[in-house]
Amino acid sequence: MTLDFAPMEGITGRDFREVHAACFTGVDRYWMPFLSPASSHQLTARQLRELNPGPLGCDRLVPQILTKDAEDFRCAAAAIGELGYREVNLNLGCPSGTVVSKGKGAGMLRDPAALDRFLDAIFSDAPLPISVKTRIGVNDPAEWEALLSILARYPIRELTVHPRTRREFYKGDVHLDAFRQAAERLTFPLRYNGNLFTSAAVQKTEADFPCLSGLMIGRGLLADPALITRCRGGTRSREALIAFHEELAARYLRYMHPDVAVLPKFKELWLYLSLLLPDERDWKRLRKCSRWADFHPLALDLLRNAALQEEADFSRLP
Ligand SMILES: Cc1cc2nc3c(=O)[nH]c(=O)nc-3n(C[C@H](O)[C@H](O)[C@H](O)COP(=O)(O)O)c2cc1C
Repeated sequence: MTLDFAPMEGITGRDFREVHAACFTGVDRYWMPFLSPASSHQLTARQLRELNPGPLGCDRLVPQILTKDAEDFRCAAAAIGELGYREVNLNLGCPSGTVVSKGKGAGMLRDPAALDRFLDAIFSDAPLPISVKTRIGVNDPAEWEALLSILARYPIRELTVHPRTRREFYKGDVHLDAFRQAAERLTFPLRYNGNLFTSAAVQKTEADFPCLSGLMIGRGLLADPALITRCRGGTRSREALIAFHEELAARYLRYMHPDVAVLPKFKELWLYLSLLLPDERDWKRLRKCSRWADFHPLALDLLRNAALQEEADFSRLP
């Protein structure tokens, strides 16, 4: 079973992935946050920079496309194939209001007949194998049955299921019964994603669903970047955590404004990293900083000296 790093738009960009892979072992593949192809069918310079496989290489990266237009999907997939990638992923899960209102991401689950037509178009003329990442519905888990019947008809390279509806965003319990339904029904490879926050949770899911091709972990790896390292029998070293933090900061500071861009990015990361700290008040002190010059020494001091907990405390996540 492979253990992959979930795509997280705004967080797990190229710098993040490369620095993480240099500091921590164990992650099989890194999924790239979605790219939205333009109707001009030209990838932008920024998209090409993100898609440059760099030291990780195409085999450890999964590019993802967010669109409801089959021709836009096909052109972007072809360009991605030319760069050397062997798989492209379709996003059917993004719950964000701006994405869903345009009928993309989880918005594509709203109209199963239209989704069927879209899948028929992209699979009938696919320049490379297509995998899919989905939720189980828009408003109600009862929608999953009809969606599953449609998905089951296509030669999906691998299906990743985040068993929540769009309405649930990332909160509350996951619907494991809906995921089990997929595991019993589908014949192609299936990957689980959702709320894997501790090494015990990862082990339990591996044991409960031995038929899976793998698991995908998002927020658990932001809170403890060594979560997969630990699941693979390794340990979390303070040195690796500090090296990760400092190298990521150094990369961002090369081309981003410290206060305007690096600080908000690090606050988003520390929203999760701080769940390892025993004292919640440390996060409040960090959150109050309005300048990188105040935030950075405080963050570094916590990484060097705080007594980190064995597992992140996700009950504190707002
Ligand atoms: C800030 C943020 C950005 C995300 N961006 C993407 C994305 O670009 N593509 C995608 O498929 N999922 C995206 N997701 C969803 C995650 O990949 C994952 O499905 C979700 O966090 C649930 O897994 P977890 O409980 O392990 O975190 C994002 C989630 C968050 C919180």
